[in-house]
Amino acid sequence: METKRLRDQGTERPRDRETMIEKIRQLVAEVEAFAAVTPEQVEEFRVKLFGKKGDITLLFEQFKEVAPQEKRVIGQELNVLKNLAFNKIKDIQEQLKKNVKADTNLDLSLPGDPVQLGSRHPVSLARNQIIDIFNRLGFVISTGPEIEDDWHVFSALNFPPEHPARDMQDTFFIERDPDILLRTHTSSVQVRVMEKQKPPIRTISPGRVFRNEAISARSHCIFHQVEGLYIDRNVSFADLKQTLLFFAKEMFGPDTQIRLRPSFFPFTEPSAEMDVSCTICGGKGCALCKHTGWLEILGCGMVDPNVLENVGIDSQEYTGFAFGMGIERIALLKYGIKDIRLLFENDVRFLRQFSSAL
Ligand code: DAH
Repeated sequence: METKRLRDQGTERPRDRETMIEKIRQLVAEVEAFAAVTPEQVEEFRVKLFGKKGDITLLFEQFKEVAPQEKRVIGQELNVLKNLAFNKIKDIQEQLKKNVKADTNLDLSLPGDPVQLGSRHPVSLARNQIIDIFNRLGFVISTGPEIEDDWHVFSALNFPPEHPARDMQDTFFIERDPDILLRTHTSSVQVRVMEKQKPPIRTISPGRVFRNEAISARSHCIFHQVEGLYIDRNVSFADLKQTLLFFAKEMFGPDTQIRLRPSFFPFTEPSAEMDVSCTICGGKGCALCKHTGWLEILGCGMVDPNVLENVGIDSQEYTGFAFGMGIERIALLKYGIKDIRLLFENDVRFLRQFSSAL
């Protein structure tokens, strides 16, 4: 009687059904959150719960005094707590025993292994930068399928049937008659855009292209291009030249010079190839530019009126320019990489070097 009265006066001691249930739930949360790294910590916790004056022991004593109609509900909760605590302690004890066997010298105070940050692929870096520069000039991105038909890759672009220009690009055909093929250039996307959209059109189309070529240090059978297209009234060759000069300076630095050499593409007239002053020697001549001072980076020209007519744009009213460049080539020049194959091997020692680039 004496002890009972004393206990009734304890401030911690649950007095009624609500406080008892509350205490049980609080202990359930405590047990669930419990973690230990040494057997001593587990033992301390066990005593706190199941020792002579342990929380759970006291609750069971208190339970004897619970009114009969409350016994079922409180008893259930109490049993859940007891089993949970019992199993948790047993599990941790076993786990710790295993750990001790596995590695007795484990030093848990040592810092963890550093997390290695990933990096963007150099082709993605170059592509994002090209897109960013043309976005600033108002060019919007468009995309098209990698598996294409003859019309979008060749015919609409003014390659006549059997024209030798078709041999310039060795094509991976998927089906013949009608021809279904892997696109050999992203110029196919300009056709798709012009078919859908009325001028003015100002778009760039980055994407993957495929050519049946032997893999070497300089070429690959899968690579990436960015195509550019600008169609409006009164677009001139001067606009093309100025746009490309801006691009070259943004991409390779403000001192970069450009030169345009006459060339031929079936879909542009006149056509040109653009060189930039060597990114290594600045034009003086070195091994990279084969002592010419110049590096070729893209093809371009005024869109051939036949192409405009093929997609239903009036070539009397509208003119435009187009250009196309290989992203790998830009990345090789920009980052001073000597072999294109490095871009496809995914050797992390190579890729990690780009982790500080944006
Ligand atoms: N499509 C050409 C190629 O793959 C590159 C090109 C040249 C695209 C001239 C153009 C252009 O739009 O005007 O080699």
